[in-house]
Amino acid sequence: MRLLVTGGSGYLGRELVRQAAAAGCRVTGTSLTAGGGLRLDVRDPAAVRDAVAAERPDVIIHTAYRQDGEGAWLTTVDGTANVARAAAGAGARLLHLSTDVVFDGRLGRPYREDDRPTPVTDYGRAKARAEAAVSEAGGAPRPIPHLASRIGESYRWPSFLDDHYDTVYANGSSAVYHRP
Ligand SMILES: NC(=O)c1ccc[n+]([C@@H]2O[C@H](COP(=O)([O-])OP(=O)(O)OC[C@H]3O[C@@H](n4cnc5c(N)ncnc54)[C@H](OP(=O)(O)O)[C@@H]3O)[C@@H](O)[C@H]2O)c1
Repeated sequence: MRLLVTGGSGYLGRELVRQAAAAGCRVTGTSLTAGGGLRLDVRDPAAVRDAVAAERPDVIIHTAYRQDGEGAWLTTVDGTANVARAAAGAGARLLHLSTDVVFDGRLGRPYREDDRPTPVTDYGRAKARAEAAVSEAGGAPRPIPHLASRIGESYRWPSFLDDHYDTVYANGSSAVYHRP
């Protein structure tokens, strides 16, 4: 299987590239400023199309984003739309990463994929809009906002999931929600 991981230099992307290669996939990770892999700016639609055409991936795992600062909306929203359109155009499957903060946490039960996004931060609004862009591009049928996963047992940064791992998985559920 051929994989293209956008944001392959990031926290999640780097681990995905490592594990995919170890599993025998042909995987290319992209970076913007960190170096390594294929240099790609997802804000550039032509560059994204060219990268997808050159790599011919079966699956694109899109992790590239910016949480805040200058260019955050352009990267997270327009960048995701560019990747989703390129994936749809090339017939590649797209896995887009979401986040719990597309929801405000006031529902009082674990969230489902079809719950309406209710973001309260700029980051949450950008991720919710990015999910809509994925749907509009005709790529992945539905994002899965609440899928939680622990990555890299020996990874160098601790994750918030380390604190909640036992609770989250004790009842066989992958749903994570906040108390209001
Ligand atoms: N980390 C978490 O706790 C968490 C929780 C929930 C959801 N998520 C989601 O998981 C995904 C990955 O998060 P992460 O923590 O792994 O991110 P990260 O470590 O901050 O990495 C971000 C990646 O995006 C790349 N990037 C930034 N701007 C770009 C651009 N214009 N064009 C192309 N690449 C660009 C960066 O490249 P360079 O470094 O090379 O510049 C880097 O590889 C995101 O979609 C995020 O919303 C993360």
